[in-house]
Parts: sequence; C-alpha cells; structure tokens
Amino acid sequence: MSIPLEDLFNDVIAKSMRGLGLSEADLAAKAGVSVEDVAAAKAGTVDDKLLRKIAPHLQLDGLALVTMAHGDWRPTPVTLKGLAQFNTTYHDMTVNAYLVWDAETKNAVAFDTGADAGPMIDFIEKHGLNLSLIFLTHTHPDHIMDLAKLSADGAVTAFVHAREACAGAKTFELGETESWESGGLKIEPRSTWGHSKGGITYVVSGLEKPVAIVGDALFASSMGGGMVSFNDALATNRKEIFTLADHTVLCPGHGPLTTVGEEKAHNPFYPDYK
Ligand SMILES: [Fe+2]
Repeated sequence: MSIPLEDLFNDVIAKSMRGLGLSEADLAAKAGVSVEDVAAAKAGTVDDKLLRKIAPHLQLDGLALVTMAHGDWRPTPVTLKGLAQFNTTYHDMTVNAYLVWDAETKNAVAFDTGADAGPMIDFIEKHGLNLSLIFLTHTHPDHIMDLAKLSADGAVTAFVHAREACAGAKTFELGETESWESGGLKIEPRSTWGHSKGGITYVVSGLEKPVAIVGDALFASSMGGGMVSFNDALATNRKEIFTLADHTVLCPGHGPLTTVGEEKAHNPFYPDYK
C-alpha cells in the first residue's frame, strides 16, 4: 500500500502564509503579483513562474514547491526490518502509528496509537512480539485515541511529555529522561514542539538504520504546521531532526516514510539545505 503525500503544494503555501501571518494582499504586494494570482495559487492553480516569485516571500524553496505542484516527487519507499507503519482512517483523513521491534528479543515498542490500534495489536500477536512500552509524539486526538486498547487499560506503560499530559500516560521532562533502553532498542526523546506545545520526536537505535518518529513535526515534503508556533516548529525541526544522519528513516504522523536526506533535498519549508 502506498500512502499519498499528506499535503499538496497549495497546502504548503497556506501553512506558510498562516505561519508568517501574511494575507493574500500582503503576499501579493511583497512578491509584486496580483491578489488574484495569489488566490489562484492557493486554490491549486499551477503556474511555475508565479510559484517561483512567491516562494521566497513565504520562506519556501521555489524549485521544491514547483516540483511538488507538478507531482514529480515522492520519497523513495523505505523498508526496514523491525519497523512497521500502521495507517488507519480518521474522519476524512488517515493517521500513522508505528511499531519498532528487536528481532532477537521480540521486544516491541509502539509510537502513537492511530485511530484504531487493532491492526497493530494483530501484528504483535501474529509475529509473537511483546509490547513493552508506548510513546506518544503529541496528544492530538487522532494520534492517541486508541490508547486504552493498545495499553490494555494501562497494563503497558505509555509516556508523554509533561507539557501534553493526558489520561493513561506517564509524563516525562526532557533532561530528566535522557533515553529509555528496552530489549535491544534505545529510545531518545527530542523536543520538536511548535505544531503542538509538547511535541516529541523519538530517535530509535538498534535497527539497521536509525529511525525517528516525528509525529506531526514533519511530513514528506511538508510539515504539520505551526499550530502553537510556526517559528519554533521550523527551528526545533532544524535543531533536532535535520541534524540527524541523512540516512535516518523519518516516520511522520501522516503520509509516507521518508529520510532526513530526502527532506533536506525536497521539503520546500527548508530552502537552507538545498
Ligand atoms: Fe497533530
């Protein structure tokens, strides 16, 4: 199953306008284009010249935005032993949850629950795995709504950052918890707040490649949007995600798997790595 990209190019434009506090008239004046042209781009009209003109005023990479508008890029499919993605339906969208496990010890760790933890629970049973811990990237309902079922009503410990305390999970503070070790896996929390106030990226080592479960901090060729702070969402991603090795597998809360290297090259929100 191939999951479509979460955002279209005009979603990226809208997120950036919202984040920077720019109206259509503001953007038109800055870029020297008409308000009608900006409205058309926002509505999905593909005009390469116009996109290149507005991109710098949105702090976006022009070429990456145009490439996205033409549907010319998708991340190379990632397969990694010990990593599974579960994509479940939530209203008119889908949401991802992840399972990481050690083949030798059969120890498994879950990241978020998705809208329905059923497929993950079936997978755990089918492969004879033992779920030892659950980590929450953030507490928007689509990511955590099946926590009671996945944790078997609290029999499996779940962790969430203290700034997003929620029922059924133990809170932790960064600094006080450097990392967790669990049956051949090491899980390191990093602050990627901005989309949500306590958003966490979990970097997992123990598989053939490093893995980072990023929640909605970053999507393939987009990001979740700075619902709390756009500037901090961009800054924490640069500091905590883009400093990871290029071959690190990124596991977003929506859309397909990607890598740090692919996002440096193709994500329009990060022109500084092009
Ligand atoms: Fe979210």
